[in-house]
Amino acid sequence: MIREIQDEILRLKKEQDVCILAHSYVAREISEIADFVGDSYGLSVQATTAPQKNVIMCGVRFMAETVKILSPEKTVYLANPIAGCPMAEQMDKELIGAWKKAHPDYTVVAYINTTSDLKTICDVCVTSSSAVKIVNNMEADKILFIPDCNLGQYVAEQIPNKEIKLLQGGCPIHAAVPKRAVDEARALHPDALLLVHPECVPAVTKEADYVGSTSGIMNYAKASDAKEFIIGTEISIAEHLQYDCPDKKFYPLSKQLICPNMKATTLVDVLNVLKGQAGEEIVMDEETRLAAKHCIDEMIRLGG
Ligand code: 13P
Ligand code: SF4
Repeated sequence: MIREIQDEILRLKKEQDVCILAHSYVAREISEIADFVGDSYGLSVQATTAPQKNVIMCGVRFMAETVKILSPEKTVYLANPIAGCPMAEQMDKELIGAWKKAHPDYTVVAYINTTSDLKTICDVCVTSSSAVKIVNNMEADKILFIPDCNLGQYVAEQIPNKEIKLLQGGCPIHAAVPKRAVDEARALHPDALLLVHPECVPAVTKEADYVGSTSGIMNYAKASDAKEFIIGTEISIAEHLQYDCPDKKFYPLSKQLICPNMKATTLVDVLNVLKGQAGEEIVMDEETRLAAKHCIDEMIRLGG
């Protein structure tokens, strides 16, 4: 049944000149029919080079918005409109605008997990894979990092010579993993390496053998000579790795690392978007798009 739906998707996507982009957190049956699977940075860059006229994003809303910002000539659909990222909604233009007014000498660095509306007043965008490099490469040394205070704290620790202010925000899924989960997982799997996403709290990232984006974690585990890994990011990454590397062992750091928004998109949703029966077309006025594009262009320029 899954194979039949996949075949139908592949047929329709070719017929309709559609590129399917899938974040690494989505289900395996979706990643199998995607043109590109990757982390937030990879997806945003891939969108600009994809030759197709149309894009279906299997991920969350800010990712589809990023594609539209960079490729306005494409018709971009979010496969399931309920898939948002709660972190992206935590801070708005009013809050950050007021902060900027009170601190005019600070440069605002926004994690890509923000709305396009908020990006319009930010200076530079970063993803989890590029944050340290970009903040390092920036001329500014007084920075407000939003909205993820855990990623911001991680960046601040890597770059102690810059003054990095943080506001209280973050991923409710990653930030909920306590240090106790590390102690328990290490006790159960003493030979395993701990690979974690920088959205986890500092008490967890401090314990890690590697800290990186979803693609960074996957690449590290595949290239490593080690045989066992505790994976501190959304549970799907441990599952994908187990599938890709059957001779290694992968254990989720916590069984509660499940992002309901990333799980919201199904294979049938993708099929229904192609049939014109589901999905949401991302529409953005040109003023917002150009203002938001500025900080994504800066991300690409500084992140190389
Ligand atoms: P990546 O940049 O690693 O893809 O992270 C996106 C995300 O939402 C992690 O929770
Ligand atoms: Fe957002 Fe966290 Fe889900 Fe990533 S895992 S999409 S940051 S809620």
